[in-house]
Amino acid sequence: MTTAADTYPLHFELTPNDAARADAERETMLSDPGFGKYFTDHMVSIEWTTEGGWHDAAVLPYGPLTLDPAASVFHYAQEIFEGIKAYAHEDGSVWTFRPEANARRFARSAARLALPELSAEDFIESLKQIVRVDKGWVPTSDETSLYLRPFMIATESFLGVRAAHKVGYYVIASPAGAYFTGGVTPVSIWLSENFSRAGKGGTGAAKTGGNYAASLLPQEEAYAHGCSQVLFLDSVDTTYIEELGGMNVVLVYKDGTIVTPESDSILEGITRDSILQLAADRGHKVERRRVSLDEWKTGVESGDIVEVFACGTAAVVVPIAELKGEGFSIVSPVAGPDSLTLSLRAELTDIQYGRRADPHGWLTRLDA
Ligand code: PLP
Ligand code: COI
Repeated sequence: MTTAADTYPLHFELTPNDAARADAERETMLSDPGFGKYFTDHMVSIEWTTEGGWHDAAVLPYGPLTLDPAASVFHYAQEIFEGIKAYAHEDGSVWTFRPEANARRFARSAARLALPELSAEDFIESLKQIVRVDKGWVPTSDETSLYLRPFMIATESFLGVRAAHKVGYYVIASPAGAYFTGGVTPVSIWLSENFSRAGKGGTGAAKTGGNYAASLLPQEEAYAHGCSQVLFLDSVDTTYIEELGGMNVVLVYKDGTIVTPESDSILEGITRDSILQLAADRGHKVERRRVSLDEWKTGVESGDIVEVFACGTAAVVVPIAELKGEGFSIVSPVAGPDSLTLSLRAELTDIQYGRRADPHGWLTRLDA
């Protein structure tokens, strides 16, 4: 598809929000942000057309988008998104984590959805723009962050099925506490045996709304069984573990080996990649390979698998206490304070919040 080369680097016009929230109201929201409930005063908007490339980069007051009912995103779901956090450090500076990796994944998602590529420079600049104008929205209490949601949609109005010639890119921001209401309390997950999230050659590796739409019904099934996430198997053999609706899965073996599913239909998580790197730095053997459901079941039963956890930007790292399915339940060992799960989680968040050195150069400053 077309690249941003003709307009790069973009210049962003700022229109300040005259109706920005009062300090007191914002502080109330920041004191208990939850996840994805509140939005900051501004948003980024950039337009793209086949003829003009990327243009009209702007930071605008947060507010509704005006789209024609025939905009093709509503009909054919030509859409992609990212999730990335801004972290306040103790000295008041604001940083993000591996934005180049999110930019690369956004470009891969764009290619799969026949959307135009936004350069990594413009992607990262858009994050800086919103954080600079809404810096007062970055929460500072423990384990909180400003969750940034860049997304791209097909805005052209027509009903034929083809890639749109008009596209919008936006970034909105939302102060975030824990994704799960129980914080780092272990979660139970439900094995979806009737539904797949992605198929061979489909869009599973792209971060696109359709994958999440496909996960909603099985996710409801999970809730009905008292579970907070759903685990999908591969859709070809229904034998191998893929991932959760919004997180990757990692298994820890007794001998310290760490195993995570490899598949071309799952999202390549940046949290997972970082956790595996930190584990490898500590000398753990790390394996990315196919993992069958049976391996999980028998491994936990025999004691060979000693920890199971889920990870992702929103959820960070959460121990999986139990895997439930029709007629079975596999209870994992409890992830105690000395568990690898919690110690890798602490190492990762210490880097993200600037409490420990960043040996891999993962942090990028956003507010300066
Ligand atoms: N898998 C899915 C389906 C996700 O939605 C996410 C969250 O972004 C992940 C995995 C984890 O990816 P990351 O760690 O990059 O957030
Ligand atoms: C993220 O972790 O950033 C995601 O996009 C997952 C979503 C379930 C919130």
